[in-house]
Amino acid sequence: MNTGKNPDYAALMRDDLNALRQRGEGRIFVELERLAARPPYARVHGMSESQSAAPNTNAGGEVQVWCSNDYLGLGQNPQVIAAMEKALRHSGAGAGGTRNIAGSNHELLCLERELAAFHKREAALVFSSGYVANMATLAALGARLENAVIFSDSRNHASMIEGMRLSRAEKQIFPHNDTAALEAMLAECPRGRAKIVALESVYSMRGDFAPLGEVVRLAREHGALTFIDEVHGVGLYGENGAGLAEELGVAAETDIIAGTLAKALGCFGGYIAGSALVCDFVRAHASGFIFTTALPPYIAAGARAALRIVAGGADLRRRLHGHAARLREELGAAGLPVLESRSQIVPLAVGDSDRCRAIADRLLARHGIYIQPINYPTVARGEECLRITPSPHHREDDRRRLVAALAESWRAVTEGGT
Ligand SMILES: Cc1ncc(COP(=O)(O)O)c(C=O)c1O
Repeated sequence: MNTGKNPDYAALMRDDLNALRQRGEGRIFVELERLAARPPYARVHGMSESQSAAPNTNAGGEVQVWCSNDYLGLGQNPQVIAAMEKALRHSGAGAGGTRNIAGSNHELLCLERELAAFHKREAALVFSSGYVANMATLAALGARLENAVIFSDSRNHASMIEGMRLSRAEKQIFPHNDTAALEAMLAECPRGRAKIVALESVYSMRGDFAPLGEVVRLAREHGALTFIDEVHGVGLYGENGAGLAEELGVAAETDIIAGTLAKALGCFGGYIAGSALVCDFVRAHASGFIFTTALPPYIAAGARAALRIVAGGADLRRRLHGHAARLREELGAAGLPVLESRSQIVPLAVGDSDRCRAIADRLLARHGIYIQPINYPTVARGEECLRITPSPHHREDDRRRLVAALAESWRAVTEGGT
């Protein structure tokens, strides 16, 4: 029998967390109660020590949320809620099983057919989340297409990185949005080898666009499949809101579109859309699709209602993009370091985790404005930012109040004022 001491698990975990906190990278979550009747307000339950230590604390009060990914406010839309309530009463709370065993419910299959039509594809597959859709699909493709190589943008989301890791396929990382580097890598790869190019259309943290047209062209030229994460593009771009690929007119030439039901559609779950063959292949091999309980019918019903609003939502999109453009201008005019982007995501570069948190704490406590500080590992060290996302529920004067509050908090934190 082995002798000696057992590991001190508590000490190992405490030391790890203490080191994280000392680097300013501890995760602090704000406990919010979303108020469906009063978007974009939410009630805050309990604040961290640093938040409630700030003057004029707003603990227990209502705050305006300026960082939600419910971009179009559909998570609180009466039609979406009504569709969910109806399906909840009709079919109950859960799906009752995995897709394979009793869980392939009618609402979910209707949703898959509607997602396929929305993206003008033969088929779609719904997963428990966008994260799972990305991870499970790339893991299945990379593992099952023999000797595949995956070309991955250096700023790809963690879910794609995890899927590639699970696949054990060779991965080649090209510098962010660098199509010349991608072309060189593709050219070096033997013609007969299976290739997948994986990228996002709208990058989640900096809000910049991929050169999608050029990437799709290169992939075609070199016989590669394209996997495009449109998680931040669906609902926001294109005539029908099907994403940036639709807006750029290249959707028909892409192979797999990955999306979420949880951002612009305001609900929960993720999906891929593509040819019937690709979807069948993923359905057959993706562990994250097969061995987990299916999405409940009421969520599928809500997503279907949201999808209909998005498809006819050109006005909603125009308003949101106008709002984001004006916010960008006003932040720049106030001397704040707004990052260059043209999307619905408006990031302010901070570049330091403590400062980022201090500004966000002050916004919350003093001004009743919630913007989550984005620190490592969500972004690289040195790229810490405040990621602002307007919604159709914010009014013009809300936006002006936000800019004034940000300017005050920024000055107070960076110049050491109070
Ligand atoms: C680019 C990107 N892909 C995928 C996901 C995962 O989507 P979901 O939130 O539906 O799991 C996210 C979520 O934050 C994301 O930003």
